[in-house]
Amino acid sequence: MKVAKRKIPMVMMNIKKFNIHSVLASFLTPAIFLTFMLVQYIQEHVSLNQFLISLSMVLLTLFILSMEITKDQNWSRQKTVTFTFIGSGLLILMYAFQAIGTEMNYIYYITPIAAYSILIKYFNEERFAIISSVLMAIFGSFIFSLNGANGYYVFLFLLLSQWFAIFFFESIKDRKSLLKTSMSLLSVHILLVVMFEMTSWMSITSTDFLMSLLFVSLSVLFAVILTLGILPLFEAGFNMLTDTKLLALSNPNHPLLRKVLVEAPGTYHHSVMVANLSESACEAIGANGLLARVASYYHDVGKAIKPHMFIENQNKGKNPHDSLPPEESARIILEHPKDSARLLKEHGLPKEVIDIAEQHHGTTLLKYFYYKAKDRKSNVMERYFRYDGPIPQSKEAAIINICDSVEAAVRSKDKPTNDEINELVRAIIYDRLMDGQFNDSQLTIHEILKVEKDICDMLNGIFHARIEYPKDSMLQPTQGGH
Ligand SMILES: [Fe+2]
Ligand SMILES: [Fe+2]
Repeated sequence: MKVAKRKIPMVMMNIKKFNIHSVLASFLTPAIFLTFMLVQYIQEHVSLNQFLISLSMVLLTLFILSMEITKDQNWSRQKTVTFTFIGSGLLILMYAFQAIGTEMNYIYYITPIAAYSILIKYFNEERFAIISSVLMAIFGSFIFSLNGANGYYVFLFLLLSQWFAIFFFESIKDRKSLLKTSMSLLSVHILLVVMFEMTSWMSITSTDFLMSLLFVSLSVLFAVILTLGILPLFEAGFNMLTDTKLLALSNPNHPLLRKVLVEAPGTYHHSVMVANLSESACEAIGANGLLARVASYYHDVGKAIKPHMFIENQNKGKNPHDSLPPEESARIILEHPKDSARLLKEHGLPKEVIDIAEQHHGTTLLKYFYYKAKDRKSNVMERYFRYDGPIPQSKEAAIINICDSVEAAVRSKDKPTNDEINELVRAIIYDRLMDGQFNDSQLTIHEILKVEKDICDMLNGIFHARIEYPKDSMLQPTQGGH
């Protein structure tokens, strides 16, 4: 069944990934903007031409956003609700400001539009933040031009405000960095007001100028308050994955990590090694390194149920698999990704971490026990020695899949040389690629090569091998179950 799935043509796979959440996410915010314009048209505040331009802008927005969002396989209901809430909320706010400030055509300076981009970037959607910032700026310029503001200036201000927010905002791993972002944003916003007012052909009074500076400072303040106020709401309410949550989960005092450390110390050490490798490899291709690190810590927690059945926790000499038929050994080992996923679910870990634990072996073959069984009898069914999967569904899951095998294989070698490490990493990646394990991961060949180089560099650095030994036969099937 799983083999057949891998042969489905790419077009069919893309249709399967098109989900209702992505359609809703691309539809709702522009629809609210169109409603405003319709109300204005009915009240005869805008002409038919302006309404038709708004309509075509909305259609274009729908097209661009749906193209962007449907590419993202991991688009969820939570993201739809969050981004629609933030986008629509800001549209309503802009509409309210223009309604209040009919006498002040510079009222648009008060819009805390930077909060929109910061929040979306925070949820790991930088690309979406950049694209939708243009659209929000277009919508804003239309709304504020209703009270006589220069649409061109409004557009530029709203766009630059959001782009600087995306540029300055790195993370809120600590509150200090948010303060740094706020200060940088404030300076840039004040600079923008000065530049706009100096180049504006309209002569403004000094009171208006001071009011503009006050408004722009308030907008940065509002943006920070909104960001800090809204984040915990979405983190708690929608169980959304954020850096703050991931950092909290990386604390070794988490009961699950402590359980692994005490009951399966070998697995704990393996997980830390996989975390270091996968974080670095993910960052090399722009994937989420922190998610990879945290998911690696937790990927094998299921092994804590029967730790002695896994090679890294066995003392030299006694191996319980020696007294078990290979079918039974395989059954026990093949269960551990599901056990990990179940334990993580019970402890309320984010879906992204659970998914990676479930996918970290994909549908790979447990070669050691498969060949052991084949040596005993000829009619061995391969599928009984394959993991249940699913195959990795994200770049992070695929990279952890690689690092997991690489770490276990390198550990089994005594003083590996640089050449041996490089060849081992290449052989594992090639083996997985040919087995169709990365078909759903969105990894490109270019990215796989970068990942391979990064893992080799990391391992060569760790092992510091300088002496070249004669080549050995690579990729001997290990006991597996890492
Ligand atoms: Fe593992
Ligand atoms: Fe594993």
